[in-house]
Amino acid sequence: MKFICLTLLLVSGITDSRSEQYEVVGPADPVFAVSGEDVILPCSVKPSISVVDMRVEWFRLDLKDSVHLYDDHEDRNTDQIQSYRGRTKLIHQELQRGNASLKLSTVRVSDEGRYKCFIQSKSWSDDATVDVRVEAVGRPPVITVDGFDRSGGLHLQCESEGWYPEPDLEWLDSEGVSLSSETTETHRNTDRFSLKHTVIVYHSGKIHCRVKRRHHMLETLINTTKNMFNSWRTSVILISVMVVLVVIAGILITVFAHKNREQENNATKFDSAVQNYNVIFSSISEFSLERDQLLQSQKIIFPKAVSHLRTHTVNVILDADTAHPLLIVSHDGKQVEYGNRLKVVDGGQDRFDEYLGVLGKDGFSSGCFYFEVQVKDQTVWYLGVARESSNRKGWIDLSPDDGYWTVSRRDERYWARDSSNVPLSLRVEPQKIGVFVDYEECLVSFYDVDSMSHIYSYTHQSFNEKLYPLVGLGYWTNENSTPLIICDDY
Ligand SMILES: *[C@@H]1O[C@H](CO)[C@@H](O)[C@H](O)[C@H]1NC(C)=O
Ligand SMILES: *[C@@H]1O[C@H](CO)[C@@H](O)[C@H](O)[C@H]1NC(C)=O
Repeated sequence: MKFICLTLLLVSGITDSRSEQYEVVGPADPVFAVSGEDVILPCSVKPSISVVDMRVEWFRLDLKDSVHLYDDHEDRNTDQIQSYRGRTKLIHQELQRGNASLKLSTVRVSDEGRYKCFIQSKSWSDDATVDVRVEAVGRPPVITVDGFDRSGGLHLQCESEGWYPEPDLEWLDSEGVSLSSETTETHRNTDRFSLKHTVIVYHSGKIHCRVKRRHHMLETLINTTKNMFNSWRTSVILISVMVVLVVIAGILITVFAHKNREQENNATKFDSAVQNYNVIFSSISEFSLERDQLLQSQKIIFPKAVSHLRTHTVNVILDADTAHPLLIVSHDGKQVEYGNRLKVVDGGQDRFDEYLGVLGKDGFSSGCFYFEVQVKDQTVWYLGVARESSNRKGWIDLSPDDGYWTVSRRDERYWARDSSNVPLSLRVEPQKIGVFVDYEECLVSFYDVDSMSHIYSYTHQSFNEKLYPLVGLGYWTNENSTPLIICDDY
């Protein structure tokens, strides 16, 4: 009897001293999991020894509750946290190799946290901690066009939802230069983040909205290059906005393959990465639907912006008494052309005498006003507004300092005249120019009506008297007899 006891003691002493060499090992780095996919929480005994006869317990450190329990050769999950039900698995063949890694299926954002892998034999126990970070890839961003504002800026809005953790949203122009968002909004509903950012752009071109979080990036592009507005005159406004979804799944497999570099392990990671791509590509088809809806909605959004300007349309009638003697103003005051002959007109003091200009009959000293002038086929023209008292005699600078706010075409180029000449680069020859003035905001803006693109704005001006519409055909002489026409028929 004594002998047996001694032997038992000896045997257990031997096992104990052997057990001390064993260690439960988890990953050194956090484990990144993608919402909706499966993830392996690595945990094993080193050196490798079968844990089939041991107790393996996985629990949440923060919740102190069981995530998975294996004991007495069986999974015993009666006390398992409800939300993990049916989603946890220990691979029994792996247990023989000392591998107690837990497979967690269809990961949720709420799975994020610290887990303990606790392994216990009759004589020994140890544990390791696994830090699980969950990432949820949201829906592809959707860009909507909110129309133009008073300064001629095009308002774009980009929305994307369903991200975790909070992603970054970035606007990029066609050169890849980041644009700063005008407004930003972030909402958190249950455990996902949704974002809404706006930006104001002043030039046409491609604008990208990029949303990214760690290894994932979704990007949408709006192409505002051409034909944002067509058929302006007919009230059917056709927009051709190409919305192209560019999805770049920047999945860095290496990051997923953290500590364990074993080949089979990497194979699993690769599979999950491939799955990831599938998830993203399936969202493309969803996106097509959204794009169609978007195009639909733009038909409403765009005319809103246009009609916003046009609600301020005033009836401009050119005042022949202010016209340069060589100009012919039509009877209705809606057209002016260069008359290639000398007329006998009085050289009244209201007239321009060198500059081929004419003013509107009515001036404005409050609110907003807007008018459109057809410049089609005319090669030299000036348009804008003039202060009532500004000098009309001799050489005029046509600068704001002199009481003129204009854009012009001359020498085959387009110009604004601020404190110095500002060359304007326009993609197409404008056929019609819209002039918008907000007296209180001290703003004068010019638009190419057909493409509804912004040409130039004078901001923060000082108006302290009435402003009159100004139409001009150059200085001294104009070889081109095409009239400039005030447009009212839209
Ligand atoms: C954007 O528009 C321009 C001009 O309309 C066109 O040449 C270009 O192919 C378009 N790009 C995309 C991505 O649609
Ligand atoms: C442990 O088992 C999991 C499956 O449960 C497997 O993915 C992983 O590669 C195994 N780890 C080792 C070190 O064999």
